[in-house]
Amino acid sequence: MQKKIIVAGIGPGSEDFISPAALKKIRAAKFLVGGRRALKDFSSANQITCAVTRDLDAPINFIREKILLGEVVVMVSGDPGYYSLLDLLRKNFPPEEIEVIPSVSAIQLAFAKISLPWHDATLLSFHGRQPARDALKFSAGKILGLLTDAEFNSATVSEILLGCGWEKKSSVTICSRLSYPDEKIFTTTLEEAARAEPIKHCVLIVK
Ligand SMILES: C[S@@+](CC[C@H](N)C(=O)[O-])C[C@H]1O[C@@H](n2cnc3c(N)ncnc32)[C@H](O)[C@@H]1O
Repeated sequence: MQKKIIVAGIGPGSEDFISPAALKKIRAAKFLVGGRRALKDFSSANQITCAVTRDLDAPINFIREKILLGEVVVMVSGDPGYYSLLDLLRKNFPPEEIEVIPSVSAIQLAFAKISLPWHDATLLSFHGRQPARDALKFSAGKILGLLTDAEFNSATVSEILLGCGWEKKSSVTICSRLSYPDEKIFTTTLEEAARAEPIKHCVLIVK
């Protein structure tokens, strides 16, 4: 079966972290789906586009209609394999019809920024979901890499971790706006982060 839905990662923000393969597909697309920011950054006037908003039926219906006419490229932030629209696409279309093009994930860039390998880290997401408390529990030598959202932000997640047996003095690196000109990365303690101004939609590395 010919792959008709191309899911292309666009990296965490800056074009420096989008793969050339993804960029090539996005530029060549006739039908292009993506968040408003992605469409603003990458679409051109001759492309037929569909914005991904809270109404997730809209892009699914757009794809159903347009794949009858040709390839549809779906842009997702970071890497498609790590908490993206790919889950929903697999529920609606046969996997054989989907081609995934990787790019750099926010989680990869966060670990790279502090020169820390992530092969031993426990990677979990608070973005629109709640990881099982068991997976968050403290153990000696454990490293957590966490996605956050507006509600489960640097402060609320730090508070949750203190309730999961992590010490007040455990280190948390808060990585926000990765790859953008206003990128901010700093390390503090869980106790401080729980009390400080919340930082939303960031990556937390806890150890
Ligand atoms: C729905 S997840 C998408 C993850 C994406 N597929 C990836 O591989 O990076 C969105 C979350 O990723 C993290 N994120 C995405 N871009 C980021 C950036 N530029 N800086 C910091 N965190 C980012 C935030 O935790 C955000 O709430």
